[in-house]
Amino acid sequence: MPIKLIKSVALFGREVLSNPVTTGAICPSSPFLSAKVASFIDRSRPGWVVELGAGTGVVTRALLDHGVPPERLVSIEMSASLASHLREQFPDTQIIEGNAMELQSIVDRVSGKRDSKVDYVVSSLPFRSLPNDVSQQIVSQIKQVIGKTGELIQFTYDLRPREFAPFAGLKRCQSSIVLMNVPPARVDRFRVNGLASEP
Ligand SMILES: C[S@@+](CC[C@H](N)C(=O)[O-])C[C@H]1O[C@@H](n2cnc3c(N)ncnc32)[C@H](O)[C@@H]1O
Repeated sequence: MPIKLIKSVALFGREVLSNPVTTGAICPSSPFLSAKVASFIDRSRPGWVVELGAGTGVVTRALLDHGVPPERLVSIEMSASLASHLREQFPDTQIIEGNAMELQSIVDRVSGKRDSKVDYVVSSLPFRSLPNDVSQQIVSQIKQVIGKTGELIQFTYDLRPREFAPFAGLKRCQSSIVLMNVPPARVDRFRVNGLASEP
């Protein structure tokens, strides 16, 4: 196994043990899941792509491989050790050690404008294991930054497309199941309900 991969797996394992609720997974997303998440991005859109919960960088790598320009990608990660690992791997991408609960102010700081909007929020956050009030605040921030035309891409290990209270006000526009992941996952693309037409 290459050294970088061993380091990533060890770092992730340490996070799972010390912060099981915020990590919310037993291992990093597989290349199949990461590629599916990235494939939901329309590369012709010119705005920012903001990644939440970048972890060891598997989805970050897939987004760059899919063609998202590194200068338009902002990856936010709460854990200091994971953020520092991400900076080593992705020197051309903005890695922010920060909390998705403060998403709008992070985006404003990066863009240099107030009330900035983004084209995509790509989230690996484990909303089903986070406290409800935390999930609700983050989703409210996501709705604010995607506005009328942006999109949220989110994966979950709950394969059934059920209603999930913190996602009230978001409309699912696309969904795909990825079996080649531990555990299997579903990737969804959302827009703010009633504000934009289907593509
Ligand atoms: C399930 S892991 C996903 C890691 C990676 N993207 C992947 O798919 O393997 C969730 C990540 O979200 C981070 N996280 C959890 N809550 C967060 C928050 N409020 N703000 C920023 N990052 C957060 C955790 O530290 C963890 O690295």
